[in-house]
Amino acid sequence: MDGMGTLARLAGEEAPVSHILGFGGYVPERVMTNDDWAALVDTSDEWITARTGIKERRIAADDETTLTMSANAARLALEDAGLGPQDLDEIIVATDTPEVYTPDTASFLQHDLGAREVPAYDLGGSGCAGFVQAVDVARARIAMGAERVLVVGVELISRLINKTDRATAVLFGDAAGAVVMGRSGGRAQVLDVVAGTDGSKAEILTLLTGGSRHPFTMEAARTGAHQDLVMDGRRVFKEAVHRMSAAVEDVVARVGRTVDDISLIVPHQANKRIIDAVGARLGVDDERVYVNVDRYGNTGSASVPLALWEAVRRDRVSDGDLVVLTAFGAGFHWAAAAVQF
Ligand SMILES: CC(C)(COP(=O)(O)OP(=O)(O)OC[C@H]1O[C@@H](n2cnc3c(N)ncnc32)[C@H](O)[C@@H]1OP(=O)(O)O)[C@@H](O)C(=O)NCCC(=O)NCCS
Repeated sequence: MDGMGTLARLAGEEAPVSHILGFGGYVPERVMTNDDWAALVDTSDEWITARTGIKERRIAADDETTLTMSANAARLALEDAGLGPQDLDEIIVATDTPEVYTPDTASFLQHDLGAREVPAYDLGGSGCAGFVQAVDVARARIAMGAERVLVVGVELISRLINKTDRATAVLFGDAAGAVVMGRSGGRAQVLDVVAGTDGSKAEILTLLTGGSRHPFTMEAARTGAHQDLVMDGRRVFKEAVHRMSAAVEDVVARVGRTVDDISLIVPHQANKRIIDAVGARLGVDDERVYVNVDRYGNTGSASVPLALWEAVRRDRVSDGDLVVLTAFGAGFHWAAAAVQF
């Protein structure tokens, strides 16, 4: 069908439409500027701004965890939807920086929110594409009968990055975002989602420590034999531009629209230059692309829901608008969603 890896549907069959009932987000209070980083490693505000567009990012306080940030965003999304935790039929958390290794963050969140004993699970390891992939899973679950699904994207990256590696440390920030999805109601409909994976590029962006290949052992901790985040920045950059723009074109075509019909693109906020290149490739002017990477850096799975929440709160979205979410992440994964307000 589209060659993008999304499940083919029978000819003439409509995509199952699901709705977004509420939006939420959370960022920690503590701001870390480029100058703050320059005091720690050999970098500068000029370098970081020119290469990434990032000016500052948020850093979680000592008493914050992936769970507390998820719960803050989730409660706002539930409030926005006019619902309580007891109304949820399912909870999905997209994160690569979970509360603990096992069990998943969703288990803790189910209890913390006071939700019923509903299915709750993490979608982990897909880097920054996780949230849009989770939206796709949620709509499938809604099509199968779930009435209301909470989808969270969250990342507490600052505690896990190698603070001495200037090439990666300065890029990231902590945040959470959430939506409540359902069968009907709300301001927006998810018309369709495309998603795909190219595992041949798994090694260009990978965090090696902790799995079976490089287990986290006491011995490794003692000798400092950790395997850090490995990133081939240039290849990631190229893939990101190609996959995010192709996914946008693909998803709008699937809903019978064109790129000209898009009111706002909400892309994964990894780097302003990547976002600009996606806009240029699609022929979309700056006003139709949402950017907040300057204030938050790359917040992984939280980036798209946080930007979407902010865009809605800042009235960058009006009823009738076609909004397209697009993301890429380690894997190499990509996903895009067409959302009709
Ligand atoms: C990481 C990225 C900003 C680097 O920009 P770039 O233009 O490709 O720069 P390069 O990697 O070629 O590095 C150029 C030089 O800057 C140096 N450098 C790297 N980080 C630096 C920093 N924070 N401050 C100062 N210099 C830095 C490098 O060591 C290199 O020095 P050299 O030429 O002496 O070897 C860019 O490749 C990128 O954004 N890639 C995508 C990354 C991404 O999105 N990752 C997350 C995916 S979810």
